[in-house]
Amino acid sequence: MSECDLLERISAARKNKNVVILAHNYQLGEVQDAADFVGDSLELSRKAAETTAGTIVFCGVHFMAETAKILSPNKTVLLPDLEAGCPMADMITLQQLREFKERYPGRPVVAYVNTSAAIKSEVDICCTSANALKVVESLDADEILFVPDKCLAEYVASKTNKKIIPYPGFCPTHMRILPEHVLRQKELHPGALVLAHPECRRAVWELADAVCSTSGMIRYAKESSAKEFIVVTEADILHRLTRENPEKKFYHVGDMAVCPNMKKITLEKLAWSLEDGQYPIELPESIMNSARAAIERMIAIA
Ligand code: 13P
Ligand code: SF4
Repeated sequence: MSECDLLERISAARKNKNVVILAHNYQLGEVQDAADFVGDSLELSRKAAETTAGTIVFCGVHFMAETAKILSPNKTVLLPDLEAGCPMADMITLQQLREFKERYPGRPVVAYVNTSAAIKSEVDICCTSANALKVVESLDADEILFVPDKCLAEYVASKTNKKIIPYPGFCPTHMRILPEHVLRQKELHPGALVLAHPECRRAVWELADAVCSTSGMIRYAKESSAKEFIVVTEADILHRLTRENPEKKFYHVGDMAVCPNMKKITLEKLAWSLEDGQYPIELPESIMNSARAAIERMIAIA
């Protein structure tokens, strides 16, 4: 079915329904274009909390749809493909979190939003890549446990005087980006600024002119007087970067930085999701209530 036909089906399926379509900056370009709002994890959490729509269709990965459900428990939250998970979020189980806390008692725990609802329900506060430093600085403690992303933890540790104790998780997509990939792009484009996501390893983000969340990169590129940028994160962020800055040039670090889970959401699955009400996110109320406290603490401070 052509893109045009699918877009028609999407618009027919949402007609007379109070639906909002949210999409992450890593979604396929055509899915981003079909969405009402495209953003980073923090912006999408805020939108999910604020919306008056009865149904949220979340084009992203599972933990993001769960976060939307936790913030809007009385709304229907649909994820067009339940297989769209996040391997980093799966790297910490509740059992592993409890053992980690037992090993370092008395320290507050910050959980990257890339975690399951169950993990969020047993931590003090959440963070995203956009606010991790602010969240850590807000805590009244000198030593802080940080789960599950060791790279983001190391980035935050480099910016604070607090001691960050990292859990050894990581994003397999960002981990595949090596310093030589960035150096190659710098050789090809010597005048370009380097924008890197903090899920990258230290040797990679150390080569960057700016380290930011996905929407942080989009803002940076817009506000900068530079005309060329090397983009060191997932490939489809280039869709927004190029559309919103047509006069600037963006060079992606390479095909190793494609998140297969983000690509599981397609226009066709979005159409099915709207037509059939698939797949609703359901969570136990007690987990949602505890997890919500950690997410709302984050939203309140950053
Ligand atoms: P942000 O969009 O919040 O920077 O996060 C990226 C990410 O981890 C998506 O998986
Ligand atoms: Fe998870 Fe990495 Fe994909 Fe983000 S890019 S959804 S952290 S695997």
